[in-house]
Amino acid sequence: MDQSIINVGLCCLDIISICNTYPLEDSDQRVIDQRWHRGGNASNTSTVLSLLGHKSAFVGTVARSHELSFLEKDFKKYDINIDRAIVKADCSAPTSICIINQQNGSRTILHHNKDLPELSCEEFKQFPLDSGIKWIHFEGRPNTDQIVGMLQHVETYNKSLGVNQPRIVTSVEFEKKREFSPIETFPDYLFISKEHAQFHGLKSKEQAVEFFVSKIKPSASVICAWSEDGAIAITKDSSPVTSAIFPPPKVIDTLGAGDTFNAATISALSKGHSLKDSITYGCKIAGAKCGIEGFDKLSDVVSFNVDTS
Ligand SMILES: Nc1ncnc2c1ncn2[C@@H]1O[C@H](COP(=O)(O)OP(=O)(O)OP(=O)(O)O)[C@@H](O)[C@H]1O
Ligand SMILES: *[C@@H]1O[C@H](CO)[C@@H](O)[C@H](O)[C@H]1NC(C)=O
Ligand SMILES: *[C@@H]1O[C@H](CO)[C@@H](O)[C@H](O)[C@H]1NC(C)=O
Ligand SMILES: *[C@@H]1O[C@H](CO)[C@@H](O)[C@H](O)[C@H]1NC(C)=O
Ligand SMILES: *[C@@H]1O[C@H](CO)[C@@H](O)[C@H](O)[C@H]1NC(C)=O
Repeated sequence: MDQSIINVGLCCLDIISICNTYPLEDSDQRVIDQRWHRGGNASNTSTVLSLLGHKSAFVGTVARSHELSFLEKDFKKYDINIDRAIVKADCSAPTSICIINQQNGSRTILHHNKDLPELSCEEFKQFPLDSGIKWIHFEGRPNTDQIVGMLQHVETYNKSLGVNQPRIVTSVEFEKKREFSPIETFPDYLFISKEHAQFHGLKSKEQAVEFFVSKIKPSASVICAWSEDGAIAITKDSSPVTSAIFPPPKVIDTLGAGDTFNAATISALSKGHSLKDSITYGCKIAGAKCGIEGFDKLSDVVSFNVDTS
C-alpha cells in the first residue's frame, strides 16, 4: 500500500541571492543570481520525500498573501499534497533572505515572520488520521505544547488500532536554541541538529546523542547530523551507529542539507532499513544535495537504493 508521509511545520518564501563573495556592510553590489524558493523545513522535507518517490504531504499554516499562488504552484510541481494546510487570512507570508557565498557555498539566513500563527493542535485534529498515513514528521517549532498535543493525538490513534493494523510512526526535529521540553519524550525518532546540540553545550555528535537518549521513551531513537562530521544515531539499549559524509565533487549549495538528511533518513527507516543504513543513506543523499543547486537535480545524481549506499 502506498501510504503517505506527512510533514508538519513551516512553509515560507526564500529569496536567495548568490554572491561572488560575502557582501560588505553598507556596500552596493550586484549579485550573480537571485531566485525565489518555497522554503521552510517541513516544506523542504516534503519536497525531498516526494523526489525520493514517497507520497508526501505538507501540513501547516500558510498566509493568504500575494506569495500564496507561487507557493501553491510549487507544491503542485512536486506533487505534494496540501489538502490539510490551513490558509490564514490577513497575514503576511514568512520570508527568509538567504545569501550564498559562491566561493565556499556558505549560507547566511535572515528570517522574518510578521504575523503568521503556528498550526494549533485543534487545527491538526480537524483532519482524521487513518491507515493511509505511514509517518508524521514534526518540525519542533515554538508551539511546543501544541505539538505535544498533536503527538498525543497520534498516540491515542495508535492505541485504538487492532494488533495487525499499521500504526503511524512519528519523528520530531528540534529547533535550534530551544530549551529542553516534554516533546522529546514522545516521538519514535528525535532529530537533533548540530546547532541545537551546541546550544546545550554539547561538543560532538557523540555527546549529543548520549545526552538526548536519556530523555526519550524506551523504544525511541535519537539521530544527529553534524555537518562535515557526518551523522550518528542511537537507541536506548544499544551503542551508537555512525556514518561519514559523502562529499560531492564540489560543494555548491548546502542550504537544506539538514532537511535532505532528515527526509532521506526517514525514507529509509520507513522502508524498514536499519538505523545505520538509514543515516548512511541520509548522508549520501545530503552529500549529493550539497553538490547541486536546490533540490531539482537530486533525482539525477543519486541512486535510490538504500542497499547500494
Ligand atoms: N560539505 C558537505 N559535504 C558533504 N555532505 C555534507 C556537507 N555538509 C553537510 N553535509 C551532509 O548533510 C548533513 C546535514 O548537514 P548539517 O548538519 O550541516 O545540516 P544543517 O546545518 O542542519 O543544514 P541546513 O541548515 O543548511 O539545512 C550532514 O550529516 C552531512 O551528511
Ligand atoms: C566561507 O568563507 C567565509 C569567509 O568568506 C567563512 O567565514 C565561512 O566560514 C566559510 N564557510 C564555509 C562553509 O567554509
Ligand atoms: C504509534 O505506534 C507505534 C507502533 O506501535 C509506536 O512505536 C509509536 O510510539 C506510536 N506513536 C506515538 C506518537 O504514540
Ligand atoms: C530547520 O532546519 C535547520 C537545519 O537542520 C535547523 O538549524 C533549524 O533549527 C530548523 N528549524 C526548525 C524550526 O526546526
Ligand atoms: C529549503 O530549501 C531551499 C532550497 O534548497 C533552501 O534555499 C532553504 O534554505 C531551505 N530551508 C531550510 C530551512 O533549510
